[in-house]
Amino acid sequence: MVILRVSESTLDDVFLRLQSHEGYFDGFEIEVETLKHPEREDWESISRRTQGFRILSLPRALMSEAEPVIDFYRTLLKRRLFDMVRIPYEEYKPRGVHETLEKVAHSYDVGVIRSISIRNFSAYPFPFAQDFVKERDVLHLTLNPSGWKELGPIVERVILDRTVETWGMRRSFAVEGPYGYPFQVLSSHLGSYFTFTSPQSKGPLVDPITLKTVYRYTSLTPHTALFGIIGNPVLHSRSPHLHNRGYDALGIDAVYVPFPVDDLEPFFSIAPKLPLRGLSVTIPHKESVLKYCDWCEDSVLAVGACNTLVFSEKSIKGYNTDVEGFLVPLNRVFPRVTGKKALVIGAGGAARSIVYGLAREGARVLILNRTVAKAESLAAEMGKTLSLSTGTITTGPLDREGASRVEQFQPDLVVQTTSCGMHPYEEEDPFPDLFFKGQEVVYDLVYAPRETRFLKRAKAAGCTVIYGDAMLIHQAFRQFLLFTGKEYPRQLIDGI
Ligand SMILES: NC(=O)c1ccc[n+]([C@@H]2O[C@H](COP(=O)([O-])OP(=O)(O)OC[C@H]3O[C@@H](n4cnc5c(N)ncnc54)[C@H](OP(=O)(O)O)[C@@H]3O)[C@@H](O)[C@H]2O)c1
Repeated sequence: MVILRVSESTLDDVFLRLQSHEGYFDGFEIEVETLKHPEREDWESISRRTQGFRILSLPRALMSEAEPVIDFYRTLLKRRLFDMVRIPYEEYKPRGVHETLEKVAHSYDVGVIRSISIRNFSAYPFPFAQDFVKERDVLHLTLNPSGWKELGPIVERVILDRTVETWGMRRSFAVEGPYGYPFQVLSSHLGSYFTFTSPQSKGPLVDPITLKTVYRYTSLTPHTALFGIIGNPVLHSRSPHLHNRGYDALGIDAVYVPFPVDDLEPFFSIAPKLPLRGLSVTIPHKESVLKYCDWCEDSVLAVGACNTLVFSEKSIKGYNTDVEGFLVPLNRVFPRVTGKKALVIGAGGAARSIVYGLAREGARVLILNRTVAKAESLAAEMGKTLSLSTGTITTGPLDREGASRVEQFQPDLVVQTTSCGMHPYEEEDPFPDLFFKGQEVVYDLVYAPRETRFLKRAKAAGCTVIYGDAMLIHQAFRQFLLFTGKEYPRQLIDGI
């Protein structure tokens, strides 16, 4: 059940917030502590103006509230304006005011959510919960991990633990913060009774509109196959939009979720237990995931980077779809790369896949980089890996001297692989000394913005250009095939 948690200063604002998310939630929760004057509000209007499951959330500092305030909460419960009341506990055993309010709620047929912020979860699943057997009640856990070192044990011992259900109790959880995001999306899939959400751009939880439109939340079941992307940061990634649209169009029971990961060790001890079936891998983990692979395709070993993992019961297989993602759009312009002369600007992580792909396909390559030593070691490494003859890959600096090398080299293709031009460096041009003749094909790996300063300059000189988003899409197409065994429905992507 998707619950929209609303924290506003008046009930009128609560209603406006609910209206703007209409159709995306099954129920809502009003946080009484954010209302400026709860005692002056027209609470009866809740039944008149809203539909769906209604939860009243009581303040965290309940123990220190004055008696008249507690009395006011009692009155609200007696008026049966809510289906459930969420009572937060600082400690595990209910007593005092908590116990009183629970009794009032139960005698007026209002369910109770016992809400616990877990810091020390070694005591979980809290033996006291066993006597908490009211049919309509729920044990709710709020978790806020600072990273995967904390999150790993939380997933293992709390989220994947089903002891509470065997006691006949319902349980729900909300894992707050960026590391918790995938578990917010997957909460019902992982057995949470409620999925708590925040209004759009008002954190700390996923919003219900994204939940429904991107993650197709209503169609998730415990059997839905899990895929995702790991990186840090990764919540801005467009990959979930692309993969989930593909599953939807082909009727595949799967979901693709971003996992911000700061520490691979605890993540990989949990991944097979979720169980994850496949992962895209992005910065900064493309190199460090190699040690978790039981098998890698040749391009992974040659490039030293892996951007796709496929999990089976027995093994994890590593692939590099960047190489093919780069070559497919290029082959539309040059069906054969053999014998072509390619200038590669940059010698970082992305350049490794590009130089490998070009040299493997038989191109001659000139690598120019700000740090020439990096270009030289990349050239030497690829020369050795592919057993290339001397002179197949040459190198130089990214300055006037480099520009005169380009004059002699006369490239058919220029590939821009540096981060210059990428948001927020839109104004940067990695190689202002480079003069375009107009016959070259110019390929910029940067995809945000789509058209960089560098590409604008090339276009103005009459060059054919290839945009970085083409590579991004094509590397994802191969991932989709590796994950699902099916071709991505190309009609979903216009003009690439
Ligand atoms: N379209 C796609 O599918 C795709 C795939 C992968 C990457 N990319 C994009 O490719 C870009 C590079 O990624 P990466 O992983 O290779 O990064 P990286 O490993 O950090 O390498 C950065 C490269 O850019 C150079 N560089 C950085 N700032 C520069 C400047 N001001 N002037 C000249 N050179 C500069 C670096 O030169 P030094 O060696 O001298 O530091 C290095 O060669 C990013 O924008 C990334 O988003 C796109």
